[in-house]
Amino acid sequence: KRDYKIAPSILSADFARLGEEVNAILAAGADIVHFDVMDNHYVPNLTIGPMVCKALRKFGITAPIDVHLMVEPVDDMIVQFAEAGATYITFHPEASRHVDRSLQLIRDHGCKPGLVLNPAATLDSIKYVVDQLDMLLLMSVNPGFGGQKFIPYIMDKVRDARALLDAHGVATRLEVDGGVGLGNVRALAEAGADTFVAGSAIFNTDDYVQTIAAFREQLEG
Ligand code: DX5
Ligand code: ZN
Repeated sequence: KRDYKIAPSILSADFARLGEEVNAILAAGADIVHFDVMDNHYVPNLTIGPMVCKALRKFGITAPIDVHLMVEPVDDMIVQFAEAGATYITFHPEASRHVDRSLQLIRDHGCKPGLVLNPAATLDSIKYVVDQLDMLLLMSVNPGFGGQKFIPYIMDKVRDARALLDAHGVATRLEVDGGVGLGNVRALAEAGADTFVAGSAIFNTDDYVQTIAAFREQLEG
């Protein structure tokens, strides 16, 4: 059995009460805080930056923060997020001119590096750096917005990515992001994913305890 992690995306949280929202999902049993950074350049939306990450740490959040960079370029933001208390930092390979260097930069700053693949991107692009990744994040929607529909062909990609990670014998987490909810989390786990980002499927419910328990039930029940 895999060690499943639930990573609520705070993109769907009430930003006016962000610290309390993050405390609430952690108290409800979430494992990782998924932190979506959008720059209105790499993606057509604008969200939150390193100051907000730092503020969450200052507020007392000690859980892992999984910073998903949807920005271009990435290196300045890597350094700033490392200083702001990020745990994982993931970026889209096409947003960095020197992917290997950016991965190294994350590691050198004491964070866990990962790459994110857009729905149509092939796994070939990460073949030579698999053993440098603590996280492989597969987008199951086109990045930029919460509340979109899961793209069905990603199920096959999760299987292929699981086979790739197993072939390399690495402990890289396999994370899925976009349109994940109670209706597909089990199938995703069976396909080989172990880390589940969910924004609207968690924050758009009234009772986070009940919702996260229902996710666990799907995964482990
Ligand atoms: C999309 C973001 C996701 C998003 C997921 O660009 O990377 O993390 O918040 O939202 P849902 O779970 O609502 O699809
Ligand atoms: Zn994300």
